[in-house]
Amino acid sequence: MKYSLWGIFLALFIACAPKSTEEENYLSEISDPEVMKYAIHGKTLYENYCGNCHQNDGKGLGKLIPPLREADYFRKSVHRTVWIMRHGQEGEIIVNGEKYDQAMPANSALKPLEIAQIATYLYNIWGMNEGVITSSEVEKYLRSKPEIP
Ligand code: HEC
Repeated sequence: MKYSLWGIFLALFIACAPKSTEEENYLSEISDPEVMKYAIHGKTLYENYCGNCHQNDGKGLGKLIPPLREADYFRKSVHRTVWIMRHGQEGEIIVNGEKYDQAMPANSALKPLEIAQIATYLYNIWGMNEGVITSSEVEKYLRSKPEIP
């Protein structure tokens, strides 16, 4: 009896453990080694600086925090996303048909390379394949406010 219970526990452990890490690790969607160099750091930075709000799975939080994953607003412009990471975002926006109106704080501590790593991570997972977003592109984007609404 004792042994069979342990057997059940062990089987449950084996059945559950690899699955949960697989679900979390979106890096497995990336095959380009150049993209991976950025994305590996981007994942950690994303989880530290954005994941509390947007969630590690990118799905956001109810009506308070908009999703990044499979989000029309996010997909529309890398320039705008880069700008938001540095300057925050305030005022009503519509994401996938839902209204959001909470302030996202600015983050002046993020360096262009770190923004590039986060952006490269986010734009090469969840079915996207934008390639490397470099820190010089980020610097260029940060020089001018995006024009799109
Ligand atoms: C304190 C919570 C918080 C943190 C941390 C945060 N955000 Fe946001 N973010 C928000 C909120 C709230 C909005 C919606 C702003 C509005 O309603 O105008 C938003 C909006 C956005 C948008 C535009 C809407 C969308 O869904 O595409 C992007 C892109 C974005 N955030 C990316 C990021 C990234 C990348 C980071 C990490 C560098 C980050 N955010 C960190 C709360 C946060």
